[in-house]
Amino acid sequence: MSELKVDKELRLENQREKVPSISERARSMQASPLRKLGVLAEERKNKGVKIYYLNIGQPDLPTDPAVFSEIQKREQKTIAYAPSNGMAETLTAWRMYFKNFGIEFTESEMIVTAGGSEAVIFAMCSICDTNDEIIVFEPFYTNYNGFATLANVKLKAVPLSIENGFHLPPANEIEKYITPKTKGILLNNPSNPTGAIYSRKELEGVVQLIKKHNLFLMCDEVYREFAYDAEFISVMDFPEIAQQTILIDSCSKRFNVCGARIGVIASHNKEVIQSSLKFGMARLSVATIEQLAVIPLLTEPQKFTQPIVEEFRKRRDVVYECLKEIPGVTFYKPEGAFYIVIGLPVKDSEHFSKWLIEEFEYENETILLAPAQGFYASPNKGMNEVRLAFMLNVEEMKKCLNILKIALQNYQRKFE
Ligand SMILES: Cc1ncc(COP(=O)(O)O)c(C=O)c1O
Repeated sequence: MSELKVDKELRLENQREKVPSISERARSMQASPLRKLGVLAEERKNKGVKIYYLNIGQPDLPTDPAVFSEIQKREQKTIAYAPSNGMAETLTAWRMYFKNFGIEFTESEMIVTAGGSEAVIFAMCSICDTNDEIIVFEPFYTNYNGFATLANVKLKAVPLSIENGFHLPPANEIEKYITPKTKGILLNNPSNPTGAIYSRKELEGVVQLIKKHNLFLMCDEVYREFAYDAEFISVMDFPEIAQQTILIDSCSKRFNVCGARIGVIASHNKEVIQSSLKFGMARLSVATIEQLAVIPLLTEPQKFTQPIVEEFRKRRDVVYECLKEIPGVTFYKPEGAFYIVIGLPVKDSEHFSKWLIEEFEYENETILLAPAQGFYASPNKGMNEVRLAFMLNVEEMKKCLNILKIALQNYQRKFE
């Protein structure tokens, strides 16, 4: 279905045909704002313009051959359901993975999930009733909105600021967003879309609130290894809130296996894991072959992640250096992950991004960016910001930043 066909039109069409109405929840579900411009990009590509895709976090590097040989090695006569909590070997592999970082989980404290995405949904559903609230920090990973709609929970967004590289405000500021409906805080560290890595002091502030208000702390650490300048500290480093902490993790990014869909929800809180297992039982299991395929990666993670992280560090450095050459942009040095949010000298970054993809070209090439509004829950936030994902090699990233520089000059002459 065309992503541009708006919900209202479809409803009118169905009303004419006297088709029953769909749910409020379905109507309020966001279509991924990151993919909106993708349709226009396809059209432009078909007109012969080369598009550099910097809009989504789909790593371009090849998946390690170890994954494919593992699949071949394990001949399967039948692709059967796996146990709902995950295959025993995969759970052991996750245990070994975490052990590398000094994080101790037993197999019974984890459920293998369909990516980190399902782990977030299980976490929200485990701790929240309808209309309960979860605190997030905006800008945040936009699909948290979709997960919250599915789980029928409300996200309360604490604003962060580009001026300090999107670091967390002091605990007393965050505390203002806590209400009797608040059940937990959802952190994403290192952060998508900002690339921020939270310091021990920042995390201590959050932990203090978790204790004081008796909340859950969910932490999405899917970018754990992508830590360039700052030390990454896991929420599992705070044993005083062990029973209130839920860890969300995934193989997708760190091993370049996004399509394998293997993640995990882990907690020392037995009730949380037991309820996640019940949600897991309802969807029967996670794909069997992929659970086996990631075992070599999880068992010896550094061997696979080191070259990937080094490549992204180079890209981060190049982006940072190139941004210095572009007049009027606001930026900082992202400490981790593989994204940056940039403030542009434009009023409406959505209009600019659309113009880039529909009209602009430099030497028959252009770039696809993600307007940052989609990463904010509050209206009119991030209006002049875009997120850029480091999804191309160093030389191509340089080209892209040059295209951005020239495009901004042209755009300002035309519209500003
Ligand atoms: C912060 C964050 N969490 C979770 C996910 C979900 O990824 P997956 O379901 O592939 O593990 C993503 C994907 O981009 C992400 O950026």
